[in-house]
Amino acid sequence: MRQPRGPRTILSGDPGLAGDSERNFPPNRAIVPVMSADGFASGPPPGARPDWTIDQRWDAYGPGEHQVWNTLYERQAALLPGRACDPFLKGLEALDLHKGGIPDFARMNVELNRLTGWSVVAVPGLVPDDVFFDHLANRRFPAGQFIRRADQLDYLQEPDIFHDVFGHVPMLTDPVFADYMEAYGKGGLRALGLGQLHQLARLYWYTVEFGLLQTDAGVRIYGAGIVSSRAESIFALDDPSPNRLGFDLERVMRTPYRIDDFQQVYFVIPSLQALLDATLQDFGPIYGRLAKASDIPIEAILPTDQVLNRGTQAYARAAAAQ
Ligand code: PHE
Ligand code: FE
Repeated sequence: MRQPRGPRTILSGDPGLAGDSERNFPPNRAIVPVMSADGFASGPPPGARPDWTIDQRWDAYGPGEHQVWNTLYERQAALLPGRACDPFLKGLEALDLHKGGIPDFARMNVELNRLTGWSVVAVPGLVPDDVFFDHLANRRFPAGQFIRRADQLDYLQEPDIFHDVFGHVPMLTDPVFADYMEAYGKGGLRALGLGQLHQLARLYWYTVEFGLLQTDAGVRIYGAGIVSSRAESIFALDDPSPNRLGFDLERVMRTPYRIDDFQQVYFVIPSLQALLDATLQDFGPIYGRLAKASDIPIEAILPTDQVLNRGTQAYARAAAAQ
């Protein structure tokens, strides 16, 4: 059985919506691996450490692999000004990810560590939920070591180094977001123990991966799944199809998500600080309430929602009809 896994894997959520990933899989999915749970039973793969990390072996990348990075980088760097939020764009600059080729973690980590105390560690691909959360809780971001092939620029099932580093690491240079990710790791370990990962995974999905941010200049992207995808960087902001709703913690944790196509709903936070503040409370009572609450259909708009865009859902409907 193919079974969704936790955060970089973060599908623990909603297999019902996953659909058939072979069918109609256009945009970009380099975010979410879907893997047999058996793959984790025997511990880290040969060559990996007990915490599942491996050496990046930067010297071993070939010119073709560096070229794939450069192509993807240039494409997104040209698209994202005016779309990605300032903390993302600032982080991208600060980390020098445009010096050409796949970033060398050792070099990149010097600056990242100086800015927020975070570092990036290489992992072979998927890691189990508890391992993933433990890294986050200690300000280590596990990143795939491999890069997609040149014929996979727009679509890849597993998170590769472009999604993980270009998508996630710039935001880790922001002090508030850096704290949020650490708190999320700790919250993940707690949720695992409580059997509530399903709900918490949705929070990760709708913030870290697909979050939008309200700014004085307009709505901007901070989610890694969006900024690492050309097509979704346009769709998430400009397309009339998806709902864009004000962020509400418990509402988000009741909303399933799509792993196989563009999102049908995006949640917009008023600020990174507001996101952190909303999540610093004890989730114990929230999990208690969620256990009794029903899921909210993915395309629903509730009377209590703050509606920034009432989506036509035309894209989702056309995709479903195919
Ligand atoms: N405050 C949450 C709890 O009590 C943990 C958490 C923090 C979860 C930040 C997500 C993000 O479980
Ligand atoms: Fe991701």
